[in-house]
Amino acid sequence: MTDIRAYNREAWNRAVSQGNIWTLPVSPEAIAQARQGEWRILLTETKPTPRHWFPADLTGVDVLCLASGGGQQGPILAAAGANVTVFDNSPAQLAQDRLVAEREGLAIVTIEGDMRDLSALADASFDLIFHPVSNVFIPDVPPVWREAYRVLRPGGVLLAGFMNPLIYLFDRTLAEEQNILQVRYSLPYSDLTSLSEEERLRLNGPDAPYEFGHSLTDQIGGQLAAGFVLTDFYEDIQPHDVIAQFAPSYVATRAVKGYGR
Ligand SMILES: C[S@@+](CC[C@H](N)C(=O)[O-])C[C@H]1O[C@@H](n2cnc3c(N)ncnc32)[C@H](O)[C@@H]1O
Repeated sequence: MTDIRAYNREAWNRAVSQGNIWTLPVSPEAIAQARQGEWRILLTETKPTPRHWFPADLTGVDVLCLASGGGQQGPILAAAGANVTVFDNSPAQLAQDRLVAEREGLAIVTIEGDMRDLSALADASFDLIFHPVSNVFIPDVPPVWREAYRVLRPGGVLLAGFMNPLIYLFDRTLAEEQNILQVRYSLPYSDLTSLSEEERLRLNGPDAPYEFGHSLTDQIGGQLAAGFVLTDFYEDIQPHDVIAQFAPSYVATRAVKGYGR
């Protein structure tokens, strides 16, 4: 059995040393602006998360940046006044958050762990969870929604970004080399079982984390089944992806934990 969590931990540690864009800490200028109330952060790749998805005033708001290491969203939200905990599977990603925190004099808690198991965190201990596109790196999503629900306070908000499942349906060699979209895979998709090892190495290279394409039943139905009420939604694109010419690559949802089920 492949230890997916351990494999992806090493893959994301390598991504940090290779300068992957999702591992690059924010600049001192972005932090200075966030301290003045001017900030934008990403749940998906290009569209900033709408400001009205967050509380009007972040001062003292307890925020969990879930599978969101890299010195990006956590430090911005901390500079905007929130009490931030960054939870991630990659020590190198968490080190990026600590680097910005030390550089800027921000108090940020970092916790290493698996997004499906938040047992290090108490029930009802956060007001907001910011969960950018990262459940693509785990094989099973419903535990994330259940744990997010547990650690939020009643009235708490879950902001989540995830892949549009159709991204995983098409033959990638044909798409990338000939711009042809031909359905080849079915959902749920897994780099481990949908591709041969030879294909995986050819298409993804030896350094990439394993990816998984989840159904909307798991992504949206899973949030509803955990008890969340969805209140808003947008889609976004992966700018250089062939499929993005025809359909959005990402989904973002805003969900609220009600005061009783
Ligand atoms: C694309 S990056 C997202 C972080 C980035 N700050 C962003 O803007 O989206 C995906 C993150 O998910 C984390 N991750 C992957 N598998 C995980 C798991 N099982 N539990 C927690 N975090 C995980 C990776 O270490 C990585 O930091």
